[in-house]
Amino acid sequence: MAYGIPIKTGRFLLREICEADRTAFLACQADASFSRFHSAAEHAASLDGRVFDLFLRWRAERPRRNVQLAVATRSTPSGYLGTVGLRTEGHGPADGEIGIELVPRLWGQGAATEILRAFIPWARVELGVSRLVAETAPGNLAAERLAAAAGLRIVGEDGKRHWRGLA
Ligand SMILES: CC(C)(COP(=O)(O)OP(=O)(O)OC[C@H]1O[C@@H](n2cnc3c(N)ncnc32)[C@H](O)[C@@H]1OP(=O)(O)O)[C@@H](O)C(=O)NCCC(=O)NCCS
Repeated sequence: MAYGIPIKTGRFLLREICEADRTAFLACQADASFSRFHSAAEHAASLDGRVFDLFLRWRAERPRRNVQLAVATRSTPSGYLGTVGLRTEGHGPADGEIGIELVPRLWGQGAATEILRAFIPWARVELGVSRLVAETAPGNLAAERLAAAAGLRIVGEDGKRHWRGLA
């Protein structure tokens, strides 16, 4: 089953991540402004390739319970501008944890907003997710604005802020 991938938005194409994305993914993780809200453990797992390897493995799941798509422009589908994804593993039935990360040169242009507006309805239909979960680090105002715009509300805080809402 193709799961309706790639997903298209006005400017972007969300496609399966592939080995050719590894170098750009790692370069993005190594950028200090990009990783400033990551914990030391998260940063280490991203930098040594474990996170990227996990994203590649998720492609083979059937049914798919976890997805991390690469973001590219519609005009250059092989390019790499970040990832957006949803993880249901480790969560309750019909719950999915949403995550998005974009290369810093794209920030502040409404890209994440545009991408999530397409991705969340896709996840509801294709992955059967009806509730969204997210985590944001203190001070990550852009991530908080995104979570609030997606209809999520803060339900707890323990170093990270925990958000929930309907998909
Ligand atoms: C979080 C991230 C994906 C936002 O991407 P983006 O394309 O810049 O987001 P948008 O331009 O769509 O803006 C989303 C909202 O955040 C606000 N915003 C963007 N950058 C901001 C900043 N530096 N400070 C405060 N608010 C900011 C925007 O004004 C917008 O809010 P609004 O709709 O109420 O006006 C991007 O900053 C990123 O990749 N950060 C690193 C990884 C990360 O932290 N991911 C989130 C983990 S939960």
